[in-house]
Amino acid sequence: MEFHKIARSGQIPEGVVRRFFVGDVEVALSRSEGEIHATSNYCSHLDCLLSSGKVTDEGLLCSCHGSVFDLVSGEPLCPPATRPITVFPVREEDGHVYVGIDEKLAAAAMKRRAAGSRRLSAPRTT
Ligand code: FES
Repeated sequence: MEFHKIARSGQIPEGVVRRFFVGDVEVALSRSEGEIHATSNYCSHLDCLLSSGKVTDEGLLCSCHGSVFDLVSGEPLCPPATRPITVFPVREEDGHVYVGIDEKLAAAAMKRRAAGSRRLSAPRTT
């Protein structure tokens, strides 16, 4: 897995979520209690942009229908979403944010984008 520098730390202040790209992979970077988090930018319910939502005490709130996702696990904490969002490995070094993108995931994102679908679903565990 390769880590990509995608933002400056100052671009994601406390309580903010913003959209960034690593090639065809769309990433929502957010900060909660000082910690940086990287997830898919698409809600697992109906693909709304999570970067249009907001960071709450519970997690990342989707602005479309109110689902909240745990920023660490990606699991939905309240309906209507029932599936987790993808969570990416992330680290901050020297004032920059680096996100780990799996090659298979990047290839799948490129294929889906070409097919007109943006969603990167987390694998089902059940
Ligand atoms: S699209 Fe996010 S809760 Fe419906």
